Amino acid sequence: GSIPGETVRLGIDPAGIEHAAALLRQGGLVAFPTETVYGLGADASDAEAVARIYAAKGRPSFNPLISHVAGLEEARREGVFDAVALRLAEAFWPGPLTLVVPAALGATVSDLARAGLPSVALRVPAHPVALSLLEQVGRPVAAPSANRSGRVSPTCAEHVLTDLDGRIAAILDGGSTLVGVESTVIACLDGKARLLRPGGVTREAAEAILGVSLEEGPDAGAAPIGPGLLASHYAPRAAVRLDASRVEPDEAVLLFGPVDPPGAESAKARFNLSEAGNLQEAAAVLFSALRRLDAAGTRTIAVAPIPANGLGEAINDRLRRAAAPR
Ligand code: TXA
Ligand code: MG
Repeated sequence: GSIPGETVRLGIDPAGIEHAAALLRQGGLVAFPTETVYGLGADASDAEAVARIYAAKGRPSFNPLISHVAGLEEARREGVFDAVALRLAEAFWPGPLTLVVPAALGATVSDLARAGLPSVALRVPAHPVALSLLEQVGRPVAAPSANRSGRVSPTCAEHVLTDLDGRIAAILDGGSTLVGVESTVIACLDGKARLLRPGGVTREAAEAILGVSLEEGPDAGAAPIGPGLLASHYAPRAAVRLDASRVEPDEAVLLFGPVDPPGAESAKARFNLSEAGNLQEAAAVLFSALRRLDAAGTRTIAVAPIPANGLGEAINDRLRRAAAPR
């Protein structure tokens, strides 16, 4: 396991970012903001540092992690980009898109960060602090979401510290994240683009760039199922009841849009993801809403129906995982 110690809070000024980069280069764990969620970073080329990520998260097994880089040029040293991957990278990077591509000859991302796979997951985040950190580290930074295994992803520094205080070297506090759900993961391994995880880049936007539909699911045999793809990965403590058309008095309720389902007025706790019915606003507050309702201590969180289009695909995906039996 990791050695418990003091977690240093760093500001996002140049000195704070420089300190964070130095800690990463020494093999330390540093949580940092991205536009999606906070990442728990380690030098991806240092297998021992990557192993500390799994220890800090309490992750039961080694799963492939996303390696974050400062730009497409850096990404192309680590992975082989076919025409489809290049087109997606040029359209959406920096941004909430992760590309799974064949690992390049001479790639520096460690086997452990890739979970022994011949492929590598790469992302250029659209966050000035993350980009400046990556430039200063000068190596790919492996970073899953900065939460304990099985908890919802952190969208602010307090969430990270709730889960990981004393278990990581430092955190860069960049306030709340903008997108609020993790990146979309697309595999480009066989000339096609396969959607492995819906996220911050919508299916519609990716398909508009490619001019064809995304293929579904992992290519048979290409990759083991990662934790983000496990049914019950995103789990608050309370049970989650989806598509609730009415709310029971002992339930907490997660709402969307201007019209509340019957019973919502007497719920134990309530949170409206977006009274205006805006999916972007809803994604940004989804995980903090789940944490907040969970803190109310009810047995069940009832969730009102949320549209399936655009960012609604990622929101409904995370809610289905939160509702899955554990
Ligand atoms: O928004 C995000 O993506 C955040 C921020 C911190 O960047 N990171 C994140 O990382 O969510 P993580 O490790 O929790 O999610 C990695 C996802 C998993 O679903 C994993 O299975 C998939 O990427 N993945 C990684 N490498 C893969 C590979 N070689 N083949 C298939 N899937 C892979
Ligand atoms: Mg995660």
